[in-house]
Amino acid sequence: MISAELESLARTGGLGDVVEALSLALAELGLDVLVVTPLYGVTRLPSLTTRWPERVTARWGWGPSDVRRLGIVETEPVRFASGGVRRVALLDDPELFGRDGIYGDRRGPFDDNALRFAVMSRGGLEVAERVWPGGPDVIHAHDWHATFAVLYARLVMGPRWARIPSVLTVHNLQFQGVLDESWLDRLHLPRAAYRPEVLWHEGRVNLMKGATAHADRITTVSPTYAREILGAEEGCGLALHLRAHADKLVGILNGIDLARWDPRTDGAIAARFDEHTAKAQRPVDKLALEKELGLDPRAGPLFGLVARLSWQKGLDLLLPLLPELVNRGARFAVVGEGDRGFEEQLAYLAAAHPGRIAARIAFDPALARRVYAGSDFFLVPSRFEPCGLTQMYAMRYGAIPVVTDVGGLHDTVDPIVGARASETGTGIVAARVATDAVHAACLAAMRLHADGRPLERAVVRAMKRAGAFGWTDPAAKYRRSYEGLVARRRAPAASGRSA
Ligand code: GLC
Repeated sequence: MISAELESLARTGGLGDVVEALSLALAELGLDVLVVTPLYGVTRLPSLTTRWPERVTARWGWGPSDVRRLGIVETEPVRFASGGVRRVALLDDPELFGRDGIYGDRRGPFDDNALRFAVMSRGGLEVAERVWPGGPDVIHAHDWHATFAVLYARLVMGPRWARIPSVLTVHNLQFQGVLDESWLDRLHLPRAAYRPEVLWHEGRVNLMKGATAHADRITTVSPTYAREILGAEEGCGLALHLRAHADKLVGILNGIDLARWDPRTDGAIAARFDEHTAKAQRPVDKLALEKELGLDPRAGPLFGLVARLSWQKGLDLLLPLLPELVNRGARFAVVGEGDRGFEEQLAYLAAAHPGRIAARIAFDPALARRVYAGSDFFLVPSRFEPCGLTQMYAMRYGAIPVVTDVGGLHDTVDPIVGARASETGTGIVAARVATDAVHAACLAAMRLHADGRPLERAVVRAMKRAGAFGWTDPAAKYRRSYEGLVARRRAPAASGRSA
């Protein structure tokens, strides 16, 4: 597996969570999994690591000296009773990766990201070759950063690599790796592939397009998102292209790591609980959260939000509603960082409504857990959401999600129909992606809160439902996918394919 993020080492969002948990779950099923990721300046290295005695050479361009010599740092392998093992190799290239951020720093995105991730991808394949002479059974690339791995293996590294099946997981189609044509020659990408069915898109190089053309399997992180990206809006310009490849596209819903996200054992929260003790214990967590964030402890509902503060997450739909909802008695606990404009707006709202709106402009995983445990409702008003993990974490911790009806939110939250006295459903679902619909959903949440008992029952239902969000089933689906591809490659005649 090749990924720019791995939760335990360096992460900015769900990508890191998923690659971490999926790689472990696959190993638990008995697979030999190697994850390759860069060693950034911000990587949190565990104390136990080993450095490979030799460096690995990664070619990134056509010129004789267009190579990087990468140091390899490996963390302790995780071994399972099944015989499976998960190894993690970090690529050490201080000049390219040893910086104060994964994709960028306070001054903005790094302008050599294409080169950095080309080196990550090629380095990943070279490391795999050392671990498994002859190459891996399957290459699994995550998001646009790792698309180079699919392209290099299929197009430039020779027939042996071209035969190795590849899976590309699209965690977010909004980010496609779009480059000027000049990068083509600089990054070891063949000119012959610069055509509309592969790398060419509207006059530029589009890595996502090229890799989706060449991958044997394209997965997205929820079934609904897999359908949505075939449409104009969520297709982000690639809908027609993806439709031509729809036969190899599949949506596999992400899981969450149920052992690491468990309110019965979580050391970051004030009071631990399960679905039977939630009623008694969650108020303790709520009060502690209010104290920590300087919110007035009041009887009214507390809405939590933990997110990258970006357009995708629907902040512009939600933020204008806050003053009015505060007037009706709601309070808000917001944790996250992101677009400067949203950060400033939130700081302003918090200053204008002390005790009612708290904003921690930070990436703070421990505080996030206290928000899940202490909020009555958890807001995810996304414009689009490939899967979304926070609504699942929130449900696991008994906060009722208030969501838009898109992507993975559609697949994980069952609507509490007509909030009042309803006995089904695990969350409040806005009818449309629009401010008035989000407003109506928040009001429905407040009514549910005022009713008391139905909310308590919804909390129990949400917690129970979340207990089924583990990784075992999704990992088994990925494994079946791998096995199908390997079998097909071994019997090319039967499938009519040639490598
Ligand atoms: C991206 C998507 C998010 C998904 C995550 C993990 O961050 O925006 O919806 O849950 O990847 O797949």
